[in-house]
Amino acid sequence: MPVLTTSPPGTRIARVATPSVLASQDRTAALEHAIMRDPGSFRILTGDRPTGALHLGHYFGSLQNRARLQNAGVELLVLIADYQAITDRTAAAELPEIVIGLVADYLAVGIDPDRTTIFAHSQVEPLNQLLLPFLSLVSVAEISRNPTVKEEIAAAGASTVSGLMFTYPVHQAADILFCRANLVPVGQDQLPHIELTRTVARRFNEHYCPSAPYFPEPDGLLSSTPLLLGTDGQKMSKSRNNSVPLRATPDETKRLILRARTDSERRISYEPERRPDVSNLVLLTALCTDTTPEAVAAEISDGGATALKAAAIEAVNDRFAGLRARRAALAADPGYLRSVLAGGNQKAAAIAAETLSAVRELMHQRY
Ligand code: TRP
Repeated sequence: MPVLTTSPPGTRIARVATPSVLASQDRTAALEHAIMRDPGSFRILTGDRPTGALHLGHYFGSLQNRARLQNAGVELLVLIADYQAITDRTAAAELPEIVIGLVADYLAVGIDPDRTTIFAHSQVEPLNQLLLPFLSLVSVAEISRNPTVKEEIAAAGASTVSGLMFTYPVHQAADILFCRANLVPVGQDQLPHIELTRTVARRFNEHYCPSAPYFPEPDGLLSSTPLLLGTDGQKMSKSRNNSVPLRATPDETKRLILRARTDSERRISYEPERRPDVSNLVLLTALCTDTTPEAVAAEISDGGATALKAAAIEAVNDRFAGLRARRAALAADPGYLRSVLAGGNQKAAAIAAETLSAVRELMHQRY
C-alpha cells in the first residue's frame, strides 16, 4: 500500500510514494529524533496560502504538528503567503478577512504569538527583494520542470500562467531562506520546492561565499498523518467546497458530514484503497477521538453509514468545541488579531533586513 502523507493547505495535487518521498520519510524520522534531542538547533518556516478558511485536513495534516513543534521548543515562523494567493484567483477584496481569519485559526490551535512569528510575506519587503538574486541562480528550464508549475501550465495553458505563477517556487525559496530556516514541514507534493530551495542555497553559497556558506540547505519534514479526503471523495480543499472548516458550527458540521459520500455496503470497515469514502469518515472519527481507524470500524460495524456519520459528527463537534470557542472569542477582537500580525511582520522584517544586508555584502553590492 502506498504510504500517504498529508499535503499542506491549498496544495494543488496529492502524490503517492516515490523513491525520493521514501527517502524523505526516512530523513523525517531521523529529524524527529534530532528535534527532540535539541529543539533549539532548529528554525522552522511553514506557511499557508490565504485562499479560504482552514479546515480539518489542515488541522490534522499540519496545524496540530506546528503547535507540537512550537511546544517542543523549536523556533517557528508561520508565513501567510498572500502573494501566492493572487496566483489562485482569490478575489483581492477578500484577502484582509481571510488573512485575519488565518491568524485567528493559528491562535485557536495553540500557536503562541509570544514565541512564534506569524507574518504575511507581502509586508516584508527585504524578503521579497531576495527573489531577484535567487532568480539569477535558477534557469527557466529548471523552473519549467517543477511539477507544480508544469501542472499549472497543463491545466491552464502556458498563455494564462503569469510570470508570478511561473516563478513562485523561487519566491518560496525566498520565504524559507530569508530567515535561514533549516526545517520546513510539508506535504510530499511540496518536496520539489524544498529541492529547489536547497539548490538556490547551494548555488548562492558556491557563488558568493564558498569558504563560509551563508544559507543552510533546509530539510522537508513530512507529516505522518494519513490524507483526509473531502466530503466528495476528492482531496479536501478550500476551493472545492468539500471541506469542514475548523470554525464550522456544530450544525454546519452536521450538514457537511451528512452529505459526505459513502457506499452501499452495510458493514463498516477501514479499507482506504477499496472503500475510500467510508474509510475517510472512519479515519476522521479516529483522528478526532485519538483512536485507530480499525477500532472505530469495529465499533460501528453493522451500524452502517448512518451510525458512522453520527459518530463522525459527534467526534468532530466534541474534539473541536474548545478550539471553536477560543476561535470565536478571538474573531470578536479583530484589532487584537491585526496587532498580532503587525508584531509578526515587524519581527520578520528585522530578520529579513539582516539577511538582505548580508546578501548585499556577499554579492559586493555595497557602494
Ligand atoms: N506553497 C505552499 C502551499 O501551497 C504555501 C507556501 C508558500 C509555503 N511559501 C511557503 C509553504 C514556504 C512552506 C514554505 O501551501
